[in-house]
Order: sequence, then C-alpha cells, then structure tokens
Amino acid sequence: MSHKTNRPLTIAIDGYSSCGKSTLAKQLARELGYIFVDSGAMYRAVTLYFLESGTNINDLDEVAQALEKIKIRFENIDGINTTFLNDKNVESEIRSLVVSSAVSEVSAIPVVRKKLVALQRQMKGREGMVMDGRDIGTVVFPDAEVKIFITADPIIRAQRRYNELISKNQTADIHEVITNLAHRDKIDTEREDSPLRQAEDAWLLDNSHLTVTEQFDLVLNKVLEKDRELTSGAG
Ligand code: DC
Repeated sequence: MSHKTNRPLTIAIDGYSSCGKSTLAKQLARELGYIFVDSGAMYRAVTLYFLESGTNINDLDEVAQALEKIKIRFENIDGINTTFLNDKNVESEIRSLVVSSAVSEVSAIPVVRKKLVALQRQMKGREGMVMDGRDIGTVVFPDAEVKIFITADPIIRAQRRYNELISKNQTADIHEVITNLAHRDKIDTEREDSPLRQAEDAWLLDNSHLTVTEQFDLVLNKVLEKDRELTSGAG
C-alpha cells in the first residue's frame, strides 16, 4: 500500500463482462489497503452449486432450498483472492465456460440476488472497500463515494477473456467466448431485477485502448481527487 485516503471510501466498479473490472478493483484495493470483493465470483459460486446439485432453476422452491445450503467466503491465499463454496476452494471451477454459460440465467433470479446483495452489504466493514460487479453503484452501494462504469470493444474483451482462459490452462475456443460474452451482455442488461446500467453519478471509462497500468493510474488519480474533495468539503 502506498497511498492512503483520508477517509474509508466505497468504490463501486461496474460494467460489462471481461472488461477487466476485477483486475482494476484488486489493484486499487492493494494500493489503498482496502478490502476487495469480486461479486461476480459469488454469482458464479451459486451457479456452480446449482449445476453440481442438479437444482432446477425454474423451480423457485428448489432454488430457495438450495440457497439455504450455500455458504460463500473469500480467503487470501498467497496474495490471491480465493473463493470458497461450502469450505471448498472453487476459484478455478467457477471460471470455467460451463459456469460462465449458466451464470447470467442464475443471476437474473430475484431470490438469488436478494441473498447475495445482503451478503455483499455485510462485507463492508470499517475499512474502505472496492467491489466490482454489475449493480454495485446502482443497487448494492448507491451511496458509494466513487463509481466507475467500465466498457470496452466486445472483440477486445473476448480476446482478453480467451487469453486469460488459455493462460490458466483451460480449454477455450474464441468463437465460443464471443458468443458467451454476447449472451451474458444481453441477459445482464435486459433482466428485470437490477439490470446492468451506468449509475447517473458514475464515471464512464472505455478501456479498449488503455493498458492495465494506464487505466490504474487514471482511476487512482480520480479516487485520490475525490478523497481530497470530500476532505476539503468537510472543512
Ligand atoms: O463479473 P463476472 O463476469 O465474473 O460475473 C459473472 C456473472 O454474474 C455476470 O454474467 C452477471 C452476474 N453478476 C451480477 O448479476 N451482478 C453482480 N453484481 C456481479 C455479477
């Protein structure tokens, strides 16, 4: 950590799939000494549980019963934020294409969102927090001091996702990745409950032609500027 804010801020990062939201969120959390929460990992963990348990997502009673049996937590293992589902490390499994293909349908179910939003709000302690997702600035933390909405060219996003899967030794086909991203964008933006949209007070950032470092520098400056503004505003 090499920068410190005067007050613990809540930073909400929303945007389309595979825009690099988590990469940015992790960098900011590390730099500022804040908690990082990848809310997408929580929707992915629920999806994995439903797939493994054979839960019929069209049967809301079955969904509600399954949700009661799910416990999600994060642990920092060797500096890597790791997702645990019922005490099992599922960090790699939740990133597979099987889970990616089903997660948008699962995250459109209102009881699923209700449970995870409550959990996300509980994760906010007294420290600052960076959370990335789809509805963080609009629903989970509408009062977040900093809101960023990230977008990027769909082909560039697909290429990044493909490279990520390959680097993790997962099987990937670029056409499948493109189809999956388009499918998720459509469901995420068109669902009735908490659709993906830019909060009115969010800063729009298109990172198609930005390097990871350029993006980080831009956003860090924005955060520090906001912190100074809040401090001087408080007199
Ligand atoms: O960020 P991600 O690609 O890992 O998210 C996986 C899916 O979870 C995404 O397609 C939509 C859903 N999601 C959501 O509905 N709300 C969030 N706050 C985070 C993710």
